Amino acid sequence: MIIKKINPNDLTSADNLQQQILNPTHKKRYRSFGCVKKNYNREPALFIGAYDKNKIIGIIFGYIKKNKILIGEMAVLEKYRSKNIGSKLLAYFEKQAKKLNKKYIELGALGQAEKFYLKNNYKPLIFVQIYHKDVPKNYKNLGYEIICETNYKDAKKLKIIAKYDPKLKDEIKKKFNAFDVIYLFRKDL
Ligand SMILES: CC(C)(COP(=O)(O)OP(=O)(O)OC[C@H]1O[C@@H](n2cnc3c(N)ncnc32)[C@H](O)[C@@H]1OP(=O)(O)O)[C@@H](O)C(=O)NCCC(=O)NCCS
Repeated sequence: MIIKKINPNDLTSADNLQQQILNPTHKKRYRSFGCVKKNYNREPALFIGAYDKNKIIGIIFGYIKKNKILIGEMAVLEKYRSKNIGSKLLAYFEKQAKKLNKKYIELGALGQAEKFYLKNNYKPLIFVQIYHKDVPKNYKNLGYEIICETNYKDAKKLKIIAKYDPKLKDEIKKKFNAFDVIYLFRKDL
């Protein structure tokens, strides 16, 4: 198994692999292939693959956003999991990211992957999305430390300092009347 930057000829198969794992029903892609390709052309060093012989078995895709680097997609084929391949992909990615003079790496985690990022020394934050009509009047006084608040057209989005506790997402969802609560993970560069 080797970890290396994805070459342009492999970008389609790398993208197919992540879609097969992260969007198996092919209902709605979060990011179009056009968008993936545009970002790849901008910074190919943030698109890393794990290869078994010549077959791609895991990927990580990164996107530059102002002062941070966002991990957009990360996936390893099921039969290769728990062999440290994900951690090696992440370490290689971090090495590339460090060269770009940005402040930190950030990602929004699927519930199933939260332990993976903790194991790799990422720090948790909670990301809360609330439709404007549902925002509780006392949302600033619910006992949580809000470090970032942005009003988008459809919703208010908050980042909250929080320890890792699997029960916390549901608790916060109820208290804030939110339609979505996930853990974000960060690592300083
Ligand atoms: C998350 C993921 C990339 C980790 O890859 P990996 O090669 O298994 O990672 P590692 O072997 O370095 O670390 C494994 C750890 O990740 C965690 N983990 C999370 N989901 C897991 C899964 N489905 N299978 C195995 N381990 C998983 C466990 O804590 C595990 O630790 P353990 O092996 O001590 O039990 C991989 O599980 C995956 O592709 N999952 C499905 C897609 C996904 O959730 N992507 C992340 C989006 S935020």
